[in-house]
Amino acid sequence: MYYKYKKFWDRRALRYESYGRVLPPNMTRADVEFESNRQVEIITKYCPNVNSMILDAGCGIGRISNKLYAKGYSICGVDTSANMINAAKQTMSGVEYEVADLKCLPFRDNCFDLVFELSVLLHVPDDIVEVVASEFKRVSTDRILIFPSVVKFKSSKYFFYRDIAFYTKLFAPFSLYCSELVTSKWGKANAMLFKKE
Ligand SMILES: C[S@@+](CC[C@H](N)C(=O)[O-])C[C@H]1O[C@@H](n2cnc3c(N)ncnc32)[C@H](O)[C@@H]1O
Repeated sequence: MYYKYKKFWDRRALRYESYGRVLPPNMTRADVEFESNRQVEIITKYCPNVNSMILDAGCGIGRISNKLYAKGYSICGVDTSANMINAAKQTMSGVEYEVADLKCLPFRDNCFDLVFELSVLLHVPDDIVEVVASEFKRVSTDRILIFPSVVKFKSSKYFFYRDIAFYTKLFAPFSLYCSELVTSKWGKANAMLFKKE
């Protein structure tokens, strides 16, 4: 089952546009760029120190990591798909890209000032999502930023609609609590900052 999941992302990587994702039918390329810049703004707001170490968990082809690197941050991007990581490496940005699974991160405890995920946890299967949350906690010093889906959608294979309440419950056993909720131009919450107590 998990092998098929990885293959799914390897195939999807081949459909990614150079600016970092498959273009949704209701968005233009300019919308994607606007959205990416807004997401970078949110990340940097919660991690203003450019000397910070940041983990982009499920980095895809480096859409956000490369922008953060350009601002001076030290970034590690990991993804389960070798095709995604190969494409990310071709950008030659200086980001450290590595094939790795979020359920078993190849990093020591507390080594990132911020761990963020963008459009990743909504794809992670139920049977590993709690392990992934515990790994986020383990490798971060105290901050985890996640971007829940702004629109409600019908769950399907590898696309699981999970709302704010789901994520609140997911991180609570690890003593991580949502301290900030950010709204997007689409009007719904699209970022949750979790902090250790
Ligand atoms: C929708 S893409 C988002 C990519 C990137 N975060 C972005 O916003 O451009 C989801 C990414 O999560 C990765 N992914 C999904 N499950 C993962 C896991 N368990 N471990 C590592 N990466 C995973 C996929 O391979 C894919 O690249």
